[in-house]
Amino acid sequence: MTYKNIIKNKNIILGVTGSIAAYKSIFLASLLVKEGANVQVIMSQSSKEFVGESSFSGMTHNSVITGYYGEKTNLNIDHIELAKKADIIVIAPATANTIAKLALGISDSPIIGSVLATSAPILIAPAMDGEMYKSKQVTENITKLLDDKTFFTGPAKGRLASGINEKGRMSEPEEILDKIKYIFSKKNDYKNVKSIVTAGGTREAIDPVRFITNKSSGKMGIAIAEALRDRGSNVTMIHSNLYKNHKIEGIDYVKIQTAEEMKTEIFNKIEDSDLIIMAAAVADFRVKTINRNKLKKDQITNLYLEKNPDILKSINKSNIVKVGFAAESENLLENAKEKFISKNCNIMVGNDITEENSGFGSDQNKAIIIEKNNVEKLPLMEKTTLAHIILDKAKNYLS
Ligand SMILES: Cc1cc2nc3c(=O)[nH]c(=O)nc-3n(C[C@H](O)[C@H](O)[C@H](O)COP(=O)(O)O)c2cc1C
Repeated sequence: MTYKNIIKNKNIILGVTGSIAAYKSIFLASLLVKEGANVQVIMSQSSKEFVGESSFSGMTHNSVITGYYGEKTNLNIDHIELAKKADIIVIAPATANTIAKLALGISDSPIIGSVLATSAPILIAPAMDGEMYKSKQVTENITKLLDDKTFFTGPAKGRLASGINEKGRMSEPEEILDKIKYIFSKKNDYKNVKSIVTAGGTREAIDPVRFITNKSSGKMGIAIAEALRDRGSNVTMIHSNLYKNHKIEGIDYVKIQTAEEMKTEIFNKIEDSDLIIMAAAVADFRVKTINRNKLKKDQITNLYLEKNPDILKSINKSNIVKVGFAAESENLLENAKEKFISKNCNIMVGNDITEENSGFGSDQNKAIIIEKNNVEKLPLMEKTTLAHIILDKAKNYLS
């Protein structure tokens, strides 16, 4: 395993300013720490009216900086040294006040001082009343700040503390984490690679309300698409029904229902792609004649099925790397090897769906990876880790 989690060991400054949304930043700090980051929180004076310093120091295991004076670390000058070491500065929540001061470079708080002193990217998550956010001043300040190292996330539309439903809510911590990963991904080993990932189980209609599908959650495909995005690839995810309706920044989503639709979308993209990873569970067969009207109970006696296209097999473009998945309940190695050959893949990832805590719907997978001259049996692991191992291998086939 050569690839490390993109957040691990990164020095992240988390600036917290005076908004009710500051409580969400405790959760953000927790997410970052869980991903292995070294998180240094800097709080504005007014943020202390909303959340306590101890929550952040307890969560991050670092002293919290709350002002220029009264050094909290053994560094030369706290905010300058931290700014130099930082891999990113995240300001969440960012008040209208702090955004204005950032735009003008008014450095009366160490949050702004560290932004001025860093060469790292800056991510700003505004949070404020909807009218404030729409104001001419805030709009102008945000426009002024946007450049190739300053990014914004949100705000989202939703119920604000004032009770109205407007655009002003701080992005959720998970979205901010995702955006941080996206920013880090901008210089990685898949940078010039255009990839297609398929995910989820296709649905083959019987009538307007019933369909044939399978147990695929799409988690493996999502993990691969996210890993590709993190490593700089331009990713399109062609998916059917995923376990969770979510959109990850930097991934193009194409939603389909049937195997035939998946094939069409893949072939629309394939000429322009370097890599395809088919993690979707594509139904092998479909109902021969789909009923236009809902069938009555006693009308359903037999379902006549026909074969769906074998999409992976039908891709015969020469300069594309093909990675397939084989979900098997018996003779895993033999069956996966047979698919590796018949579908003419560079890599076949096989997994035994009868294994406990592995495969369909689980966050983990126990896989074997088949290549021309190599078979590797991997232990049970997180799908997110497996995704990077697959990419480490697939990279070797990209020209
Ligand atoms: C209850 C309350 C909630 C507030 N929420 C926000 C907010 O969400 N966004 C904002 O821009 N200002 C908000 N403010 C105003 C800021 O706290 C104020 O402008 C402060 O000076 C910001 O300072 P800072 O940017 O240094 O943290 C709020 C004030 C109060 C009393």
